[in-house]
Amino acid sequence: MSRTLENDRLMRALRRETVDRTPVWIMRQAGRYLPEYRALRTRARDFLTLCKTPELACEATLQPIKRFPQLDAAIVFSDILTVPDAMGRGLYFAAGEGPRFERPVRTLRDVRTLHVPDPNDELGYVMSVIAAVRGELGDKLPLIGFAGSPWTVATYMVEGGPSKTHSHIRGMMYSDPDVLHELLEILAQASCIYLAAQIAAGADVVMVFDTWGGTLTPAAYKEFSLRYMEQIVAEIRDVPVVLFTKDGGAWLEAMADTGATALGLDWTTDIGDARRRVGDRVALQGNLDPCVLYAPPEQIRSAVANVLESFGPGNGHVFNLGHGIHPGIDPAHLEALLNAVHELSPAQH
Ligand code: CP3
Repeated sequence: MSRTLENDRLMRALRRETVDRTPVWIMRQAGRYLPEYRALRTRARDFLTLCKTPELACEATLQPIKRFPQLDAAIVFSDILTVPDAMGRGLYFAAGEGPRFERPVRTLRDVRTLHVPDPNDELGYVMSVIAAVRGELGDKLPLIGFAGSPWTVATYMVEGGPSKTHSHIRGMMYSDPDVLHELLEILAQASCIYLAAQIAAGADVVMVFDTWGGTLTPAAYKEFSLRYMEQIVAEIRDVPVVLFTKDGGAWLEAMADTGATALGLDWTTDIGDARRRVGDRVALQGNLDPCVLYAPPEQIRSAVANVLESFGPGNGHVFNLGHGIHPGIDPAHLEALLNAVHELSPAQH
C-alpha cells in the first residue's frame, strides 16, 4: 500500500530515485545492545513473549526510533521463526544457545503434518504489532516487514538446534531432495501470505532474510534457496522487496534476475563492485562490517566514508550494516555511524 510518508528517503532510494542524503537503518536496530530493550525483555520475561505481546513488541520497534531520530525506517519487532512456531514445532530459545525446536522436521511424515498458518489468526499478533506501530508512527517513517527465506527457516526446522555444519538439512538435500522441496514449497506459500498480510496491516517494504543460503553450492543455492525467494518476489506486487543472502556475493546477478527491488549485501562484497555488476537493475543495501562498531568513533566515521565512497555518487544506496548489530556494541558508537551517514552522504547526491 503506498502512502505519502513525511520521510520517504528509504522508499525513494529503493526505487533508485534522487534523495538529499543516503537513508540509513540498521539490522537488529531493536535489540540487546540497547539498555531499554534489555529492560523491556526482562519485563516480558522472555523473547517469544515479547514478540507475542503486541504493545511490548510495538514499544521495542519504536525504541531505536526514539533514541536515534537519525534512522530513516522502523522494522517490525518479531522474528523469522514465528512461521515455524505457528506450524507447531515447539520453538523455544535456550539461554545463550539460540533457537531450538522440540519437534524437528526430518521425514516426509513430518513434512506432511505441517500446515500453512493463517497469518491473521495464528500470526495475528504480528499484524497487531504492525497496526500498533503504524498507529504510533503515523506517516512519519516507513515500516519494514519481513520473513525468513524458505531455505533459512527450513534450516532451523530441520536442524532443530545449533549446528555448525547443517548436516541434517544438507544431507537431506542430497538423500531426499523431494522431501526437502515439499517443505520449501509449504514455507514459500506460508511466506507469501504472511508478507501479504504484513503489507495489508501497514508494512511499506518487505525484506527476506536468507541467512544460510550462502552455505550452499552455486547449483544448490539456485535450486533450494533462490528459486523459492523468486516465488515470493513474484507474488509481492505492491511494495519494494529486499533480498538478503548472507555470503551470497557471488550470486548477485541471479538475485537481481528475480525482479527484487533491492539486494542486501554483507561485508564480504565491495559495494562499488556490486553496483557495477547489478546497480542498473536493483538498489543496494549495506554493507558496513558490524565489527567496525567496536572501534572508536573517528574510525567508525572513516569506515562509513569508505562505504559511501565505494558506492559512489548517485541513487540507489540504503546504508546499513552487513549483518545485525552485535549485542555488545555501545549505543554511542551507533550514534557515531548515524551522524557520519547524515554528514558525509549529502556529498554523494
Ligand atoms: O532487526 C530488527 O530489529 C527486527 C527484529 C529481528 C529479530 N530477528 C529480533 C531478534 C529480525 C529482523 C530478526 C531476523 C532473524 N531471526 C534472522 C535473520 C537475520 C540474521 O540475523 O541473520 C535469524 C536467522 C533469526 C533467528 C534468530 N532469532 C536467532 C538465530 C536468534 C538468536 C541469536 C541472537 O541474536 O540471540 C534470534 C533471537 C532474536 N531475534 C533476538 C532479537 C532481538 C535476541 C533475543 C533476545 O535475546 O532478546
